[in-house]
Amino acid sequence: MTTIIKNGTIVTADLTYKADVKVEGGVITEIGPNLSGGDELDATGCYVMPGGIDPHVHLEMPFMGTYSTDDFESGTRAGLAGGTTMVIDFCLPSPGQSLLEAIQMWDNKSTRANCDYSFHMAITWWGEQVFNEMETVVKEKGINSFKHFLAYKGALMVNDDELYASFKRCAALGATPMVHAENGDVIAELSAQLLAQGNNGPEAHAYSRPSQVEGEATNRAIMIADMAGAALYVVHTSCEESHEAIRRARQNGKRVWGEPLIQHLTLDETEYFNDDWDHAARRVMSPPFRNKQHQDSLWAGLQAGSLSVVATDHCAFTTEQKRTGVGDFTKIPNGTGGLEDRMPMLWTYGVSTGRLTMNEFVAVTSTNIAKIMNMYPKKGAVLVGADADLVVWDPNKEKTISANGQQSAIDYNVFEGKKVKGLPRFTMTRGMVAIADGEVKTQEGHGQFVKREPNAPVNAALSKWKELSAPTPVKRTGIPATGV
Ligand code: URP
Ligand code: ZN
Ligand code: ZN
Ligand code: ZN
Repeated sequence: MTTIIKNGTIVTADLTYKADVKVEGGVITEIGPNLSGGDELDATGCYVMPGGIDPHVHLEMPFMGTYSTDDFESGTRAGLAGGTTMVIDFCLPSPGQSLLEAIQMWDNKSTRANCDYSFHMAITWWGEQVFNEMETVVKEKGINSFKHFLAYKGALMVNDDELYASFKRCAALGATPMVHAENGDVIAELSAQLLAQGNNGPEAHAYSRPSQVEGEATNRAIMIADMAGAALYVVHTSCEESHEAIRRARQNGKRVWGEPLIQHLTLDETEYFNDDWDHAARRVMSPPFRNKQHQDSLWAGLQAGSLSVVATDHCAFTTEQKRTGVGDFTKIPNGTGGLEDRMPMLWTYGVSTGRLTMNEFVAVTSTNIAKIMNMYPKKGAVLVGADADLVVWDPNKEKTISANGQQSAIDYNVFEGKKVKGLPRFTMTRGMVAIADGEVKTQEGHGQFVKREPNAPVNAALSKWKELSAPTPVKRTGIPATGV
């Protein structure tokens, strides 16, 4: 089947120009003026961009005694409705579980995906088995990124010795370590102290995770990665302290990427002071929403290039699930949604305000992610030969975000009431039109797993540099005899 996207303006990470796009067999086969010979999609007045890639989602994730409610079906449907055509989920072995067994479980869940997807592997425990299986994960399973939690003490958290060992293993395999950077020991202490003082509401979640816990852990992870000779991807960068550590590292030539979330860019800590318990608890996530100064820092980072991508960390729990934490904020499942809203919110609050150019928008929602995760230009590009994961973006289409009619399976939306201008007219996943003028035509199971090779250009360059600058014994002319 051949489809021609007609009369649009192509916007990529580095170019803006008028051209039609021909799609055959799920890939882009021609780009140029006046193309014909297939079904036509009218892109008049629209921008034709690479579909969004969300590098950080948790679909049907086992967490805090429950499962996140959006699964691979509803989650990817929500993504497509908002112009996102690929997600990367986290395969999460339980402590002691084989990494390969965990992949099998994630393979089973993801068969329902409506768009393409990939996995990061989480390192939730450490041992010889994990060390050995990491090689199979990279070389056979097509996963080149490993997430480490410095928070969630007693559950997912790893210690510094494990972190260093795993980072070294990643470097040797040409893979990229990722880190959830919050100091889990300090959070555990602060949480106990707050509860003992009678601070048990959702606002105490924010009190228990000040920006210092994130700044400290980010800097620690950066330094450990540097010593291990690894690059580092810092997930959900939410504050100036963490951004500052990333900025400084990048200025010093370290290969570090920061990932702000659309939630942290557009929602602030006052949400936790709402006198409706449900309202506040629905917004409990880690790290918590922060104040305007931190938000300004994140926007500045996207503008300056010290922060590289925008994600959602989509991990959606219903109000009922959130209520597990009534009387004890530490039991509120951590996570918020955002898959359907990331692109329209970033366009409205980023491009329409003049903070970001359209090309920067494409870079941080798609192209940079595809490059860092080593799947460019199959993904993240409008180029001949690339997968036809495309969004035809109508800058004049408006809506007010509401849980009513959203694709996500939960009963609320953290962006409720926000007016957005800039929405998909069409979203295409590997050549299939999944969203057409608000009409959802997704096909369960259409999504395919995207294998990602190790040794991305940056990883390869870094390992060459580390090899050349590794400690070597000094060749001496005279060595005194021992004991003299
Ligand atoms: O609160 C959050 N972020 N929940 C999802 C798990 C994680 O830490 O990324
Ligand atoms: Zn996290
Ligand atoms: Zn409310
Ligand atoms: Zn996450």
